[in-house]
Amino acid sequence: MLRQALLAAARSGHIKTAVTAAPLSRNVVERFVAGETIDDALNVAQALHDQGMLVTLDHLGEDTHDADQADTVTRASIASVERLFESGLAKSADISVKPTALGLKLGADGPKIARDNVARVASAAKAAGCTVSVDMEDHTTTAETLRLVRELRSDYPDLGAVVQCYLRRTEADCGDLTKPGSRVRLVKGAYNEPEAVAYRASDEVDRSFVRCLRTLMAGEGYPMIATHDPRLIEIAGALALLNGRSNESFEYQMLYGIRPDEQRRLAGQGAKVRVYVPYGDDWYGYLMRRLAERPANLGFFLRSLVTKS
Ligand code: FDA
Repeated sequence: MLRQALLAAARSGHIKTAVTAAPLSRNVVERFVAGETIDDALNVAQALHDQGMLVTLDHLGEDTHDADQADTVTRASIASVERLFESGLAKSADISVKPTALGLKLGADGPKIARDNVARVASAAKAAGCTVSVDMEDHTTTAETLRLVRELRSDYPDLGAVVQCYLRRTEADCGDLTKPGSRVRLVKGAYNEPEAVAYRASDEVDRSFVRCLRTLMAGEGYPMIATHDPRLIEIAGALALLNGRSNESFEYQMLYGIRPDEQRRLAGQGAKVRVYVPYGDDWYGYLMRRLAERPANLGFFLRSLVTKS
């Protein structure tokens, strides 16, 4: 119930206005977001790099309403690629982009606008030596997003796809995505989806995660295991061993600010670990989804509404 209420709040313009205007202490946002500027994100990326970890940078923003806004978001992603290159961090970096922020929902032309914009970011990334991953949003965008990735992979074979195991369709999608070199991020899924398209009980979601994991680990692609769940991380490690995978042939991914000790532990064991580093001032939807995932985070957030620091 609480999770659904928070996910509904994540989509509400009125609540967004109220929350973003509230005198939030900076540390509630800073716990999950690197900062408002690309310099903030680069500082975090450098610190993670120094600890032997990789990053994917996400310039926050979703649901673009016109082509100019989509262009602005695209330029911001390209600028972050250029700054990664200048700072010498591009080789260990990935850029995450959201199709709706790049124009996917702009009417009949939306899919083409989003595809062209993702291609602009992917082209800049190719020149700089980093990669791009296309985040997955709510289920109304799944088919178009996977189509976009499929089409662009002929020019950018390392373009990353994301699959959400809470969707009933995803096991089949994993089968389609196990081609050689195919970079696939497996997540549970962060949106409020109807029963008709998604598993809603957590044990069903976990079982689906393991089925998808089996397919991806046995396939020829490059699985990116994006979870903080200790049990699923352990199963991923066991499946990697079982399938004879080296540490170089898959990676773990976690969100900035969540289980940093576990991120360091895995990296210390020689595993590839990539941290998803969001930055920018449009943090509301991202923060609400993180709160929905964990009641302990909600307590922290509510306390900060009354304790300014
Ligand atoms: P879940 O939230 O169910 O937690 C499972 C267990 O993990 C907990 O019981 C606890 O043991 C541990 N845990 C979790 N949070 C913890 C904390 N703060 N402290 C200590 N332990 C904690 N979603 C999406 O829809 N589209 C996308 O493109 C992406 N992209 C993405 C990238 C990356 C790198 C990550 C890690 C995640 C995403 N997600 C996403 C979000 C994803 O769908 C999901 O909502 C979150 O990862 C939370 O799910 P978990 O798998 O971590 O398990």
